[in-house]
Parts: sequence; structure tokens; C-alpha cells
Amino acid sequence: MATALRAPAIGSSLSRVDGRLKVTGQALYAAEHQISGVTHAALVGAEIAAGVVRGVDATAALALPGVLAVISHENAPRLARVDDAELAVFQSSAVAYRGQLVAAVVAESLETARHAAGLVRVEYDAREHDVALRPDHPRIYQPEKVNPAYPSDTAHGDADAALGGADVVVDETYETPAVHNNPMEPHASIAVWAGGELTVYESTQGAAGTRDSLAELFEVDPRAVRVVSPHVGGGFGSKGKARPQIVVAALAARVVGRPVKLALTRREMFSLTGYRTPTIQRLRLAANSDGALQAIVHDVLEQTSTITEFAEQTATATRIMYAAANRRTTHRLLALDVPTPSWMRAPGECPGMYALESALDELAIACRIDPIDLRIRNEPEVEPESGKPWSSRNLVACLRDGAARFGWSDRDPTPGVRRDGNWLIGTGVASSTYPTYRSGSRAAVEARVDGRFTVSVCGADIGTGARTILTQIAADTLDVPTDLIDVELGDSALPRGPVAGGSMGTGSWGGAVVRACEALRAKLAELGGAIPDDGVEALADTADEVAALPKLARHAFGAQFAEVRVNPKTGEVRVPRLLGMFAVGRIMNPKLARSQFIGGMTMGLSMALFEQSLLDLEFGDYLNHDFAQYHVPSAADVLDIDAAWVDEHDDQLNPMGSKGIGEIGIVGTAAAIANAVHHATGIRVRRLPITSERLIA
Ligand code: MOS
Repeated sequence: MATALRAPAIGSSLSRVDGRLKVTGQALYAAEHQISGVTHAALVGAEIAAGVVRGVDATAALALPGVLAVISHENAPRLARVDDAELAVFQSSAVAYRGQLVAAVVAESLETARHAAGLVRVEYDAREHDVALRPDHPRIYQPEKVNPAYPSDTAHGDADAALGGADVVVDETYETPAVHNNPMEPHASIAVWAGGELTVYESTQGAAGTRDSLAELFEVDPRAVRVVSPHVGGGFGSKGKARPQIVVAALAARVVGRPVKLALTRREMFSLTGYRTPTIQRLRLAANSDGALQAIVHDVLEQTSTITEFAEQTATATRIMYAAANRRTTHRLLALDVPTPSWMRAPGECPGMYALESALDELAIACRIDPIDLRIRNEPEVEPESGKPWSSRNLVACLRDGAARFGWSDRDPTPGVRRDGNWLIGTGVASSTYPTYRSGSRAAVEARVDGRFTVSVCGADIGTGARTILTQIAADTLDVPTDLIDVELGDSALPRGPVAGGSMGTGSWGGAVVRACEALRAKLAELGGAIPDDGVEALADTADEVAALPKLARHAFGAQFAEVRVNPKTGEVRVPRLLGMFAVGRIMNPKLARSQFIGGMTMGLSMALFEQSLLDLEFGDYLNHDFAQYHVPSAADVLDIDAAWVDEHDDQLNPMGSKGIGEIGIVGTAAAIANAVHHATGIRVRRLPITSERLIA
């Protein structure tokens, strides 16, 4: 790639290439696009959790000056059926959960639309709802697969026999609550029909997939639909596919014959954009007295809705973490009268590793072994259940180097003995992991006659820094300075790349950008360096390259260290220190990588101490659907938080040697904090979040 004269861009801490646009307000987010003649939509959500809409009385709303339409199942244009029933808005009178859309008002102004939405009278026939996840429910079932396509259950050896005959057994149940994604920018759409063509300005992690969903729903050629999403204010999975609001905007624009803008309120996000399922997880570990694991059993119960199945892969990390001859994982689901759960940063790995890594800590105590030594003792040679060799695995280095950096070696394992005034102090550790995915992608690069290069791929920069990383990759492959590169992302008209999900953006889009730039260099060499007036373009498609990758176990690993202070009188928990040590292949940009890691770790701190969506059983809905009541950390909660990494070289992934880093930071953080709380207090909290009442009860 790079030659001697120019310092490589990859590996440098290039600041965000779109940072100036963002801080000066010039970067346009979905709702900020100026569209002439735009109208505004406001939503009416169901006030029952289960039943049917008997009638919609729009009289008062329609009487309001400026109201253009009230749309409900009674008058909405018909949509084609698609796999995701959440997108079938206004297609039937059935209500599957509280907050499900039953009507929308379109008006000349947002204020009028909102006011009119409050005037729409909806009558229901409610039936009794069932919204509580419980392990004795008669309708619990086994899904065929778990997200995205893992087997629901696995079994190796005889785990029950090993549990029966073991020196030491840990058998505990851990629970995580429902939690909701809250990116800074709520979901927003502006839909514009012109003739039979639809353009949507959207906040999405995947413009191409959203385009396909709209084409299917409205039964138009995908080439007649364009989804434009140049800047996205966070997603975490909630913007990984089309959500109901984009369908409402497109439907409404068709009904009123004008562009329609619809930005969700923070409250509406708690019904319409997915959430992390609550889980009930039973972990059983059997070990010899020296800590050598003989059996690992992880049984998961989680929920889905009655209209669409989402089965989170909560136990899949347990399949790859530690050696043990006897093992079993199971996932069970219960379909309730609730919105469909969906992706939220490290779905599966995140709640699953809270349970597994808490159980490992309990085992270390039972075996009187240091928790780091216990993990190292059970390090597997190959991926435990598949038998595949690792492309690279440096969990042990993360644990050792992290321990040295954190100051672990003189730790007294006795709980509840360190004090600073009124505060008890403890430290905890947990492992982290996230799979390394790579998808085939297309990309294009054009050499322009003005000497600049335009890289284009339908990826998305959801705040991760993707635009910057792709600039670095192109600069090195073309051997030109980064300031000659322009990167176009977030537009379904660009060469197709995968969704910004699964921590695979850099590996997937970046791999294609390398190939496109190599092809461009070859073309330029043929032209002897002369660029014609209309430029030179090269395209790449890495579908075949990715399909031909060797069958290896590809995962990123890490170790999370936490120090906590607990006030035993009030139950208050503070986290003065968090350290994440990661082995994630080549670090493309230390500044952006650190930002991804500490962002994930902050979200893990939030999971440990704050976030929970509280169900009101009587009303059948999550109660705390605003930031007054749904708590996320403020700056005062996040103290000394640091991320570091070990040198890892892995040439079995993509041309850059990088692993994904967007999600691993959240994994393991909650367990490290819970383990530290136990070390500080002697109290094992097996139900997140670790609130005061769970420590002083
Ligand atoms: Mo992430 S939950 O794969 O967007």
C-alpha cells in the first residue's frame, strides 16, 4: 500500500473529516433537509395493549384549519405484505401492543399536526393483555434460530453428568431488564413522491436495505426509490432497518400529494424502534477444585412480540469463550403483547456475557482462585463448539496486560474489607468478546481531473467515524494525502454495501474500497497518469472474495476492569475507574477507536447501574419513556474511563487486518462492575441494573 515518502494514514489519529461540518451545523441530519412544500405528520398510538380498533373518529381533527388528512386502517392505501409485520402500518384494526400506530395526522405545521393528533378519537375493543416475561409460562417455545442465523440450541458431551459429579458447581440465574436505544438523533423521515418515484431523507444505518423495504411495501421498482442519509446521529441497531415512521411518512406523502416530514419524539421511540429484550438466564458451571471447567450450561429465556419473531442470540458468546468438554446452550422465547424487540449494541453478547462473566466470578470465589487466573486456566486451543482454529485470539494478553495497567496484582479477594471513609471499595474483572463479521460490499472510486478522488459506497457513518476511516484506507491504497479524498456515504444510489451493523462497516466497506482503489491505480497506470476531463472510475465487488475466506473462528476479545465505591448506607454506587483492554486486530485510527471503546463502555456502565424500562402490568406498557425517568449516565457518572489495546496482527480478515470495534466496548462492562460491587460489599446482584434498593434491602 503506502510507499516511503508519505506517512501511512492508517494507524494515524486523523480527526473526523466531517467534524467541522458537524460542529458548524452544516452536516444535515434527516429532519433538517429543506424540502419545499413540506407538510408534517404526527402519530396516534394505541391506548390498549391488545385488542382491535373499533373506530377512528377524525371529525374534530379534520375540522382544525391546516389539517390535510387523518390516516388510519379505515382509509390508508394498501401495502404489500413484508416479513417485518411492524411495517404494516394502518393495514388492520388489530392492536398487538400499546403504542402501536393506529392513526397519523398530516398538517401544514408540526404544531397543528400534534394538536390534531390529540383530537383523534379512537375506540377500542380491548382484550386482556399478557406482557410479563415469566419462566413458568405455558407458551414458551424454542425458536428455529437466533439472530442472525445461529442454531437456537447446542449440546456437546454430557453436561448433566459433569454437573452431577463435579467438585464445584455454580448454578445461578441472572436477569436483565428491557432497555431502549436512545441515540441522540431520534428516528426521522422526510418522504417525497414525484411521479412514481420516492425519495426519503432518513436517519438510517442501512440506506440500501431501507430502500428495498420501501420498494417491496409500495410495490415499486427498487430503482424508483432512493434513501438519502448522509449523517446519522447514532443508531446502535435501532436504525438497522426500516422502522414504522418511514412507512407512515411515505404513505402520508402519497395520500396528501406533498412531501411529509415525520420525526419521532423521544417517547415514541420507546414503542416504535425496537429495544433489547429482557432476559432470564440460568448459568450452570461445573469445575474441578483447581478451576478447570468440566461443564458450561447456559439456558436463556427472552421475549418477542405476537406479530414478528425476534430471537436474541444471548448464549452464543458462551459457545466460544471457555474450554469445557461438556456444554449446552438453549434459547427459549415467549411471544407477548409487546413491541418487537430488536438490535441494541452487541445484541446477545452484551446480556449473555453479563451472566456468563458474573458466573465465572462466582466460580473463582468458590474455587478460591483469582478470577483472571480462572479465565486463563480455561483458555481453549480452538473454538470450543465448532473446533475451528482461531484467526487470532488474544484474550489472555488482554487479561494480563489489563491487569498490569489497572493494578490488579496485590488485590485481596476478600469482599467488603476495603474502606475509604463511608465508602466500600472493590474491583472486578470480566472478559469481553464480539464476533468479527465481514460482508461482501461494492465500492467505487473516481480520479477527478482536479486531482481529487471520490470514494463512494452505500455505508453509513452513524457517529463511528466511518467516513474518516474510509478516507484513510483510500489514501493509503492510492498513496495520496488524505485531504485529496472525498467520501460519499449514506445514499442508496451509491454502490451497495452492508448495513452499519454487526461492527462490520470498516471491514466490509473498507475491504471493497481497497479493491476499488487498487483497480483505479491499475487504470491510472495504463493511462500513464493522465486523467481525462470526465475522470476515471473503478468499481469493486468483494462478494466472491468474502465467500472464499477460509473457515476460521473470527472474534475480537477484551478484558474489562472496574473499580467501584459503594455507600453501604444509601446503596449509591460510583465507578471511579473503568479500563478496557482489547485485542481487535489492527487499530485503524487510535483517536476514533478510543472513542468507540469508551462509548461502548459508558453504555455498559449505563446498563450496570441505570437503564431499565419498567413495565406497568396493568396498562401493559413501559412506563419510564422519557429521560426524566429512563436514566442514562451524565458526565458526572463517568469518571476515569480508559481504553487500550494489545498489538494484534491478523491477516485472515480483510485487507486492513482490522476487527470490528463498534460493539465490543459494551460487552463485559456490566459484569466487571457487578463483580466489583460484590468485591466491595459481599452482595451479589444477579439482576440489572444495580440500583440502591438492591444493595440495601
Ligand atoms: Mo449493531 S446492534 O449491530 O447496529
